[in-house]
Amino acid sequence: MGFVFSAILYITLAVFVIGTLRKILRYASTPAPLKIPTTPAPTTRSGVVMRLGREVVFFESLFKASKWTWVFGWLFHAGLLLVLLCHLRYFTEPVWWWVALLAPFSPYAGLMMLFGLAGLLARRFLVDRVRYISAPSDFLMLLFLMAIAGSGLAMRYWLHADIIQVKRFALDLLSFDFGYLAFNPVLALHLLLVAVLLLIFPFSKLLHAPGLFFSPSRNQVDNPRERRHVAAWAKSHDTDRAEKSRG
Ligand code: HEM
Ligand code: HEM
Repeated sequence: MGFVFSAILYITLAVFVIGTLRKILRYASTPAPLKIPTTPAPTTRSGVVMRLGREVVFFESLFKASKWTWVFGWLFHAGLLLVLLCHLRYFTEPVWWWVALLAPFSPYAGLMMLFGLAGLLARRFLVDRVRYISAPSDFLMLLFLMAIAGSGLAMRYWLHADIIQVKRFALDLLSFDFGYLAFNPVLALHLLLVAVLLLIFPFSKLLHAPGLFFSPSRNQVDNPRERRHVAAWAKSHDTDRAEKSRG
């Protein structure tokens, strides 16, 4: 099981890193021809940094849009972040002190994830407006993340995996070694789902994580009167025109 999963995780991690980087490069080089910050918007660059910060940490605009979606969405994402930070205990030796400090909260974070996802799923079934625009992939994505959290919690409370062995395997992965893992069906499912997550990340709505930073309605400074906005691809054309009009 160790050999198979090392191979699967290396391949899917490569797809994740290369695929996501390619998408980020494409976002970064896509021109934003118009000045379209959602107002009221900050008038300085540091204001924009604060706005994006509030968006990432508190989901500010979602809070203004829908309190229920915000509660479940925020709980899910906060749980996910905490779970991922706690998982660092498998990949660090000695375990970083702050990871050790967080580790006891990992099962609660897993439950937070499940609770948030269940709420988001219920929303897709129960709110007519949302059900109308939901595609099968929207439901599947939520069920899929529930399966990752569910298989993780199942290992914690029911079919325990040999954590020492999992840690050895994780450290071997980091040093490009193919480690050993005894067969455990729940661990196999957990790792398989994680591999699928890595695989679909660069091609799915999960790209909203890096995408948020490239959204013109959020990342633009509201200063059209002070500074003329010219998209990168229009710059040479714009200077030609300026020179012609000067004489
Ligand atoms: C910078 C990090 C991230 C931010 C700021 C962020 C923010 C958000 C926001 C604001 C929503 C909107 C909820 C809605 O309007 O329906 C959302 C939805 C979602 N996010 Fe994230 N997210 C981040 C990373 C991630 C990651 C890493 C994952 C999973 C691996 C993820 C999974 C999801 C899913 C599945 C939904 C859809 C929920 C639904 O269908 O109802 N997010 N996210
Ligand atoms: C190669 C990467 C990963 C490995 C080796 C791994 C391994 C494990 C193991 C062994 C457990 C059981 C913990 C215990 O019994 O104490 C667990 C739990 C869990 N995992 Fe993972 N996991 C990985 C990636 C992920 C990812 C990417 C997610 C989320 C998207 C995730 C979500 C969870 C959750 C929610 C739990 C239950 C809470 C907890 O006990 O920490 N795992 N994982």
